[in-house]
Amino acid sequence: MTDKPETKSLAQLGVTHLEELAPLFAELRARFDALLAAANDDASWKSFRDAWLGRKAGALALITDNWLKAASPDLKRAVGAGLNELRAHVEAALEERRAALAAGTHETAEHVDLSLPGITRPAGSRHIIRQVFSEVERIFLQIGFSVVEGPEIETPYYNFEALNIPEFHPVRDDMDTFYLDLPKSFPGPLLLRTHTSPMQIRTMEKQKPPVRVIVPGKVYRRDNPDATHSFAFHQVEGLAVDTDITFCDFKGTIEHFVREFFGPGVKVRFRPSYFPFTEPSVEFDASCIFCDGTGSAAGGGTCSKCKGAGWIELFGAGMVDPAVYGFVKYDAAKVSGFAFGIGIDRLAMLKYGIDDIQVFFQNDVRFLRQFP
Ligand code: FA5
Repeated sequence: MTDKPETKSLAQLGVTHLEELAPLFAELRARFDALLAAANDDASWKSFRDAWLGRKAGALALITDNWLKAASPDLKRAVGAGLNELRAHVEAALEERRAALAAGTHETAEHVDLSLPGITRPAGSRHIIRQVFSEVERIFLQIGFSVVEGPEIETPYYNFEALNIPEFHPVRDDMDTFYLDLPKSFPGPLLLRTHTSPMQIRTMEKQKPPVRVIVPGKVYRRDNPDATHSFAFHQVEGLAVDTDITFCDFKGTIEHFVREFFGPGVKVRFRPSYFPFTEPSVEFDASCIFCDGTGSAAGGGTCSKCKGAGWIELFGAGMVDPAVYGFVKYDAAKVSGFAFGIGIDRLAMLKYGIDDIQVFFQNDVRFLRQFP
C-alpha cells in the first residue's frame, strides 16, 4: 500500500469489497493521530489543518475526489460514511488541539511550579591529590621555581633517549609501559609517559639557563597494584640549571621542601641510587609513619607498608648528568644543575597517614570527604 492512499483511486488501490474499506480509513485516522502532536505552535497547527482539511489538496478533499466520486455504487455509501466519520474526528481533534495551544496546556508546554523547593547541589571539593599538588607548588613557588606542564602522551625520544636512556638500556625494563596502538602509517611509536622527566628536556629545549621549574602531572607504568603502587600515579618533576649550582644547593632545596611539607618531625635520608640522567643520583626516603621507622608492625611481624625497611621511598633525584645537556644544546662545561621526581601519591600517604594508595583512585566519597 502506498504512503498516501488518498492520492489514488480505490480501483488503483485494488479495493473492491466493502470489508476492505475499514482498514483503509483506520490507517488514515492512525496517521492523523500520530502527526497531530507535532502541531505544537500556531504555524504548524495551521499547515497541519490545511494538509487534512484544505479544500483542494487536503487529505479529506482527495478522498472525496479519488475515492468517493469514483466509487462503484456498491461501495459509495460506505465510503461516504467512513469519510464523514473521519472528518468528524479530524475536525474535533484539530479544534481540541487549537484550544490547548491557545491555553498553553498542550503537552510540550513548560510548567514551572514556583512553589517547589530549589535544587540543592552539594558543594564539591578538590581531590586530596590536587591539594597536595598545590601545597608542593606553593613551597617551590616561594623559592623561585615556576610551574610548567607537559603532555601525558610522549615519544620514546623525550621519555627515554634524550634522558640518556638508549633503546636497549636495562633501566627501560623498570618502566615497561603502555604504548599506544597506532595505525601502521603513523610515524613512530608513542607511549604514556612513565615519569615527568621528559619535561626536563622539553623545558631546556625551549629555554636557556637559568632554569627553575617544577612539573606536576600524571604518569603511567605497568606496575602491579598494591598498597604503594598504582599503574597511574602522580609526580612533580623539579629542575634547576644555572652556571653555579652545586650539590649543596640541591640538598638544601630538598631538605627545605621536606621540612616545609612534613614539619620537622619526619626523619629523612639520601641513599645512593642510579638514574641514567643524573650523576650522582640519589633516592630520598622519609621514615615510615606507620611503624615510626622501626620496620615492625604494632602486633608483631614486619610493617607491611614499608616492608620492614622503616623508610618509604619518596623520590629519585640527582645532579643533571652532563650527557643530557648534549641533547638540548647546553654547554656542559658552563652549566650545572639538579633534578628530582617526587611521587605525589606516596607523599600524600605519608602526610595524611593513608595506608593504601588505591583509595586515591576509587573515588569513594566517604574517603574524599575527610579532606574537604
Ligand atoms: C623516576 O621516575 C625518575 N624520573 C625520578 C627522577 C627525576 C630521578 C629527576 C632523577 C632526576 P622513580 O621510578 O624512582 O624515578 O619514581 C619516582 C617516584 O615515583 C618514586 O620514588 C615513588 O615515590 C613514585 N612511584 C614510582 N612508581 C610508582 C607506582 N607504581 N605507584 C606510585 N608511585 C610510584
